[in-house]
Amino acid sequence: MKRVITYGTFDLFHIGHLNILKRAKELGDYLVVAVSSDAFNAIKGKKCAIPDSERMAIVEAIKYVDEVIPENSWEQKINDIKEHNIDIFVMGSDWEGKFDYLNEYCEVVYLPRTDGISTTKIKKDLKLK
Ligand code: CTP
Repeated sequence: MKRVITYGTFDLFHIGHLNILKRAKELGDYLVVAVSSDAFNAIKGKKCAIPDSERMAIVEAIKYVDEVIPENSWEQKINDIKEHNIDIFVMGSDWEGKFDYLNEYCEVVYLPRTDGISTTKIKKDLKLK
């Protein structure tokens, strides 16, 4: 039984989000997704279109996802890995190398991003209409 974890904001849920969750699940048997809370996004200077309770509900409804937890800080990852008995930590390739320090606790895998889509692009495109 391999347990996988990944992190993200998942605002305006799109195909890039679906693809990474599908590929993350394929690496193991049980997928935990940590969804950035509105409070954590405020610390990061990021504002979401969709509130955290709704982003978490949407991610939880995805068939590849077994469990959703809130992401409230940069520092919680080691604790999450231990608490949820994680074998593989997954991030998109935009984070390549940034979480290599977690190799001490579990396997760290960076998956390539889906080309041509992001929440930022959706927000930008909608403003043009
Ligand atoms: N992701 C992906 N392919 C995309 C967009 C996102 O694989 N085209 C992945 C990211 O690498 C991350 C996860 O989806 O592991 C959640 O990303 P998030 O930052 O919530 O989505 P973005 O669309 O990148 O949002 P933003 O534009 O606000 O950065």
